[in-house]
Amino acid sequence: MAKVTFFSGQQLPLEMHKVRIIQKLNLLPIEERQRAIAGAGYNTFLLQNTDVFLDMLTDSGVNAMSDQQQAAMLIADDAYAGSATYTRLYDKLVELFGMTYFLPAHQGRAAEHILSKSLVKPGTYVPMNYHFTTSKAHVTEMGGEVLELITEAGLEVTSDDPFKGNFDVAALKALIDDKGAEAIAYVRIEAGTNLIGGQPLSLANFRETTQLCRDHGILTVLDASLLADNLHFNKTREAQCADMSIPEITRAIADCFDIIYFSARKLGFGRGGGICIRDEAHYKQMRALVPMFEGFLTYGGMSVREMEAITVGLDETMDEDMINQGPLFIEHMVNELDARGIPVITPAGGLGAHIDAMRFLPHVPQQQYPAGALAAALYLASGVRGMERGTLSEQRDPDGTEPMANMELVRLALPRRVFTLSQVNYAIDRIDWLYQNRDLVGGLRFVEEPEILRFFYGRLEPIGDWVEKLTEAFRRDLGDSL
Ligand code: F0G
Repeated sequence: MAKVTFFSGQQLPLEMHKVRIIQKLNLLPIEERQRAIAGAGYNTFLLQNTDVFLDMLTDSGVNAMSDQQQAAMLIADDAYAGSATYTRLYDKLVELFGMTYFLPAHQGRAAEHILSKSLVKPGTYVPMNYHFTTSKAHVTEMGGEVLELITEAGLEVTSDDPFKGNFDVAALKALIDDKGAEAIAYVRIEAGTNLIGGQPLSLANFRETTQLCRDHGILTVLDASLLADNLHFNKTREAQCADMSIPEITRAIADCFDIIYFSARKLGFGRGGGICIRDEAHYKQMRALVPMFEGFLTYGGMSVREMEAITVGLDETMDEDMINQGPLFIEHMVNELDARGIPVITPAGGLGAHIDAMRFLPHVPQQQYPAGALAAALYLASGVRGMERGTLSEQRDPDGTEPMANMELVRLALPRRVFTLSQVNYAIDRIDWLYQNRDLVGGLRFVEEPEILRFFYGRLEPIGDWVEKLTEAFRRDLGDSL
């Protein structure tokens, strides 16, 4: 991807790849979208993909593969044990991260399962810059407590802080002084923060946070699922990284940690995951869980074809022209929405554009899930599927009280190399229309609320008849346009 200045003076992202396989899309008329979202219990996770025009739910496992990845899949070595494919993946990970041991797992949360089962004891703490849904669920399942130590800027919706994902080192120091290092199972750093706008951490912050841990003998764990975007931001926003290559920045970050785990559904443009480990003792501590829950040690639940694709994908992650595609499209989307006065998280981060539902729908109380309502309304208005990242994505406390999320966001993920700029512009236009008609949008309430990870499959209903009113307004303003 390049950022090119056009003769008109406009600066736009320009694709440095061409599309050689396509998939036909459906854009249903709004009346059919109305039926589809009702059938999905107003939860975008429950929509059928054939009813979706642009799927911006996630970038997980849906990034476009390159010709090189597809080619590598053909040479996959199908063996239960000791396949050459495993060795190629292992060698690539050692080359990039410099850690001696690797345990494969079928996806990121499987790695989290293994980590928390091995390392979290009841009553211990796991400080993080910010939690991710599955990482928190696994820690609490083992009786541990997640503490979020994000710098203040991280929770400010609009900001010009380039590294809003930074760990609050002073808060970590205070925690260690208060509880003692033994009470901390490990420190988990997520690069960058999924739930608060894909915001990155600086190399300086990685170094400072992990140095403090090392001084106190505390284990450090990097969640590298979103590392590709973070690397781009280190390179483009941090002076000390400007002259470093992407592999050099990668190694500088990796050198800070004892353990690195990742979802290869994000990092590596494939589908899988795993844990890289520096010390033999930690490796042995976790190893037994892989054959028990994932598969043999040389595939861990992944298909060998995917492992080949991940190996090549990891190499492509070291290419700035490849990893800047997501951030540059996201920046375009965020800047265009911002220019129209639509509340978005700034600065633009990785993963996707994030709309601030609290300011988009100030009349919808948090108890009525403004971000969930906005995601449903956006699907109705456009066929674009986003994801609620707010109170719905939280889980109730053990006593049944419902914690309100720090932010109510609708995330519009941009899977890498999948959409064109005109598709992104269509989404911007329909969000603009929705913003002009925001007063019509109301809240949601649960009709079926699961206990764990309720956002995945809970069902809701609109409060009042706002869905009908919004559909009427769409027809009034846009005629028979889809
Ligand atoms: N860590 C981070 C930072 C993630 O973003 C994810 C997944 C995981 C761990 C879990 O990995 O899905 O392979 O089990 N994020 C996806 C998303 C689900 O849509 O943001 P997984």
